[in-house]
Amino acid sequence: MTIKTITTQPFTDQRPGTSGLRKRVRVFQQAHYLENFVQAIFNTLSDCQGQTLVIGGDGRYYNREALNIILRMAAANGVGRMLVGQHGILSTPAVSCIIRKYKALGGIVLSASHNPGGPDADFGIKYNVSNGGPAPERITEQIFQHSLNIREYRTFDAADIQLDELGEQSLGDMQIVVIDSVADYAELMEQLFDFERMSQALRSGALSIRFDGMNAVTGPYAHAILEQRLGAPAGSVIRGTPLPDFGGDHPDPNLAHAQELAALMFSPHAPDLGAASDGDGDRNMILGKDCYITPSDSLAILAANATLVPGYAQGLAGVARSMPTSRAVDRVAETLGIECFETPTGWKFFGNLLDAGRITLCGEESFGTSSDHVREKDGLWAVLFWLNILAVRQESVQAIVQQHWATYGRNFYTRHDYEAVDAERAQALVDDLRRRGSELVGQRFGSVEIDYCDDFSYTDPIDDSVSHNQGLRIGLRGSGGEARIVYRLSGTGTQGATLRVYIERHEPDPERHDQDPQSALADLITLSQELAQIAAYTGRTAPSVIT
Ligand code: G1P
Ligand code: ZN
Repeated sequence: MTIKTITTQPFTDQRPGTSGLRKRVRVFQQAHYLENFVQAIFNTLSDCQGQTLVIGGDGRYYNREALNIILRMAAANGVGRMLVGQHGILSTPAVSCIIRKYKALGGIVLSASHNPGGPDADFGIKYNVSNGGPAPERITEQIFQHSLNIREYRTFDAADIQLDELGEQSLGDMQIVVIDSVADYAELMEQLFDFERMSQALRSGALSIRFDGMNAVTGPYAHAILEQRLGAPAGSVIRGTPLPDFGGDHPDPNLAHAQELAALMFSPHAPDLGAASDGDGDRNMILGKDCYITPSDSLAILAANATLVPGYAQGLAGVARSMPTSRAVDRVAETLGIECFETPTGWKFFGNLLDAGRITLCGEESFGTSSDHVREKDGLWAVLFWLNILAVRQESVQAIVQQHWATYGRNFYTRHDYEAVDAERAQALVDDLRRRGSELVGQRFGSVEIDYCDDFSYTDPIDDSVSHNQGLRIGLRGSGGEARIVYRLSGTGTQGATLRVYIERHEPDPERHDQDPQSALADLITLSQELAQIAAYTGRTAPSVIT
């Protein structure tokens, strides 16, 4: 076995987006494409000699091939030890947990998250740093710069690597340790939650759950933790085996893609808690009998009930939410007298606040919630948090949500996505709206008046780094209660552009809480389309996805 240096040419499109580099599988399969990006990572980590890295993926198509390529390159680049999930499987939160536990230099996650998998679908690669979180922009930018200047990469001439048996092997001077994908993560969950209480409730039938693994990475975690450890009856986990194409579905936990679960939860046979996670296990969707909890509300409810859970019994240092996430959690923070931060979209912006101990819980409207236990969002963690609250409060999800709204008011919320629109037109829409922003302030539209219009910039309170152009925020006041419309372009799409429009209104009156969000927000939805001239710019009269 020898180290080889391969000559290559740069690709110009390897700038990581909101969450790593995501492209079509066929793009990654081009000669040298993945290798260039991986070498750019190693060039950025000039200090990886003899260090430990963690690697695993969500089992999607190309997972194993990519793992083999990366392991050979790691050996050729002087990495000391690679911890690899068995069968190449590790969820994103498990990678984060393992990096932290074994004090690794970092880790590589192979996933395109909730995007579909298969030869004609998506693949992705993401680098996480030593705190277990996604690489900050400073590092992803260096990776990109290296990718633009790359002339060669290093690899090892070796046969395929055995990933199915636990244990150690070597590749040149590098040690490869195939580790149990679930054990470290399950142990961490056991430290945070009251497993005994949850187990009693599940075994006695006082509490029931249905978890949809969406044929993606959380299946093995959910089987092991919910069924084997906590004793939920077999069958509580559905679609629990990771498949390369996720069974042909989008592994995206929302009402549209978790249809079987959604149908069950709105039927007479609904269990107490329904939940789903995404391709790589970092997202979560929470449902109760006959009710759906928005991720923004879920974050607020977890914050308000955190002291019922052992890992958070001491209370919360602070909370944070991404800018477009509803402001429901802000009201809880105010009542608790703790800090609440508004960060740009993307999990990486929570890292510094978590490291500095300024926040304990954080979340995004895009089905992401987590805490300082790892540095990624964590799907199954959110499910266990809910399960723990239900085991303690012994009330239904619906009752808990209604009480929450009665106390804090309800933040009606919806996100409208206009997918695969022309990228230049979408950019022009945003630029135009930004330009018109100041003229809009003070204008009235029906019962509302525009209070402010700004382009969100964030100064990180820990390292003072500044991120500009993070989305347009339009604040509204009027008879219907404080409202907000946010526009931004997706940073994770792989085709054209996706315009995301986030619409929110606070409703203090409990008499009005029992409305469908689309009707409660109808006027604002129309206004969101008119203000930005969405039809004129995109040719679309309606969004492609509503969450
Ligand atoms: C989307 C979500 C964002 C999330 C990211 C990665 O990014 O909106 O909250 O952090 O996926 O899962 P976007 O496509 O909007 O840039
Ligand atoms: Zn994900």
